Amino acid sequence: MKKLLLIITTLSFIIGIPATGMASPSDDLTAFRAYFKNKFPNVAQDDYINGIYALDAERRAAWKEFEDFAPPYEDAAPYGKSLFNKPFKNGKTYASCFENNGIGIRQNYPRFNSKTGKIVTLEGAINACRKSNGEKKLGWKKGKIAAISAYMASTSNGKRINVKIPNDPRALKIYERGKSHFYAKRGQLNFSCADCHVFGAGSSARANLLSPALGHVTHFPVWRKKWAKGKSGPTAGLGTIQRRYGGCNKQVRAKPFKAQKAEYNALEYFHAYMSNGLLVNSPGLRQ
Ligand code: HEC
Repeated sequence: MKKLLLIITTLSFIIGIPATGMASPSDDLTAFRAYFKNKFPNVAQDDYINGIYALDAERRAAWKEFEDFAPPYEDAAPYGKSLFNKPFKNGKTYASCFENNGIGIRQNYPRFNSKTGKIVTLEGAINACRKSNGEKKLGWKKGKIAAISAYMASTSNGKRINVKIPNDPRALKIYERGKSHFYAKRGQLNFSCADCHVFGAGSSARANLLSPALGHVTHFPVWRKKWAKGKSGPTAGLGTIQRRYGGCNKQVRAKPFKAQKAEYNALEYFHAYMSNGLLVNSPGLRQ
């Protein structure tokens, strides 16, 4: 990691910094896409859903092979489906809590709830559904909730991320909070998300190549080899986007925030909005 950071700090930082100041979300999105288009002119916009594999052909080939060696990864969504369809004690299922019975809706999350003034992530909606049906909440970042979320996301595969920021000051405030988190330097190493995943995207050190933030959310929940290490079963390597946030905060020796609380929900709102228009491809497979 030290080596990686050294390389990033020696990168010449680019002048056209995207998404700073108080531009509107749609202006931010336009600038964000344009930044990456300029930085990686040969990468098609739709390929950003593949993270580092959009940038590196050799790694992409190894990744395709790796899919064959990670069989439980394929069980994650089917396992999530069985949980999704299993009736609660009251006889109802998750389908009763969602529009279109929860099928093909992942691309709309996180969403702003104008009644509560808060952000609802897909995992938040899953646990809210459990609560309203008299069931205990699931843990937030991995295990069953990640499997259910992965199944729901898989029914959106091929649909485009479509996160809405309504013209409501409360929604805009949350969006700005998420944007600030993304661009703020933090931790003992003093790095922002953008330092690594915008300005540093495509730079590499040993095994690490930094992915572009454009397309980051499309394939979550994700199955990671690292998370699966020493574990077995259909959810072994699975984690939600907010599990990943915690890991990336820790990389710069910053204390992670609690999953599904205001800070990460705001970050997810901004982060997901920046992938608007890209195809859902979940669950993804990563190192
Ligand atoms: C010091 C550099 C660094 C910082 C700062 C950092 N990350 Fe990462 N992040 C990584 C590395 C390395 C990986 C694994 C390789 C990759 O996919 O980029 C990664 C992976 C990710 C992934 C998974 C990408 C995929 O394709 O599945 C997401 C999402 C992510 N980071 C989000 C964030 C967010 C949000 C922040 C700020 C809270 C952040 N990162 C801060 C280094 C960093």
